[in-house]
Amino acid sequence: MQRTVVKKVREKEPDMEVIRQAGQIIRSGGLVAFPTETVYGLGADALQPEASKKIYEAKGRPSDNPLIVHICCFEDLKHIVTTIPKAVRLLADAFWPGPLTMILPKSNKIPYETSGGLDTVAVRMPSNKIALALIQEGGGYIAAPSANTSGKPSPTVADHVYVDLKNKIPLILDGGAVGIGIESTILDLTEEVPVVLRPGFITLEMLSEVIGEVRIDPGIMSVDTNIKPKAPGMKYRHYAPCAELVLVEGVQEKVVARINELARKQIKEGKKVGIIGTQETAGCYEYGFVVSIGNRQEEEMIAHNLYKTLRKFDESETDIIYSESFATPRMGQAIMNRLLKAAGHQVIRVS
Ligand code: TXA
Ligand code: MG
Repeated sequence: MQRTVVKKVREKEPDMEVIRQAGQIIRSGGLVAFPTETVYGLGADALQPEASKKIYEAKGRPSDNPLIVHICCFEDLKHIVTTIPKAVRLLADAFWPGPLTMILPKSNKIPYETSGGLDTVAVRMPSNKIALALIQEGGGYIAAPSANTSGKPSPTVADHVYVDLKNKIPLILDGGAVGIGIESTILDLTEEVPVVLRPGFITLEMLSEVIGEVRIDPGIMSVDTNIKPKAPGMKYRHYAPCAELVLVEGVQEKVVARINELARKQIKEGKKVGIIGTQETAGCYEYGFVVSIGNRQEEEMIAHNLYKTLRKFDESETDIIYSESFATPRMGQAIMNRLLKAAGHQVIRVS
């Protein structure tokens, strides 16, 4: 068993000595967890099959679930894909470095261990300075899924990574809390009309403004389990706390009343109940451990708090969590997509 070392790094001015050591671990085929602007990633050299395999092992991730390759400059893209359509240049100009991942046909340089057996590769240039410096020092191509145990909520602080991967990886770079808090938007550019495979901070509207028509994969928001999402990772129960999670959807007062009623029943049966409310409603709950996820008017804040909130219930050993839903536009789609997955699509509609 190896001991995990946690090193603090300031994003404004990353300590290059620490970054060089981390880059050395990556180049020699090892794993390093590092912050990005979305969530913490678990990095390995994307060009070394054996290094990618270690990621799957540490996370307990199914081997058919491909990894995102992180680059630090646009020029490096041409070595790992076979074609760079005009839309990719436009999108990179608009959103890179940043929370957008693009899927393109992969070149032979990317091993199938990294692409999960697919002939395509997902690529992203993150904006976090620690991430960019590490990619540079690590050889230019870092494969990195979110740095959580497979199925758990993604980590938004270094401590979440430590809880999940302690003594399974040699190094965690602690750059403090991430800014966005949910994973990048994934856009598949191998189809005639580009398709969003995972919603995120970069919304459908923002993408359309740059490249015109964009579709959304019907599998990602569907409650119908026969409609499979295209991104392999989106088909698993994911982002999930230990407790059972149930979403309650409808008019605000009715949702609060129903959650109060459900919570009371569960508590009577001896269960530990958690509730995810908002600033607007938190004071209206009469039972259980209530956590406010933020103000409904600030959906970026809700996204930022989402995984932290889900992980809070693990600490308090909750049996069942009831959560309000967030059918807000823009980022609301990303928030709802993650909550639906975390809940295994358990939704109660009140009318
Ligand atoms: O914000 C992010 O994207 C973070 C940070 C660390 O960059 N990374 C991240 O990686 O969320 P991960 O592995 O947790 O999620 C990657 C998703 C999975 O659902 C995977 O199935 C999908 O991207 N994916 C990767 N390559 C793909 C491909 N070639 N075709 C379709 N889906 C792909
Ligand atoms: Mg993930």
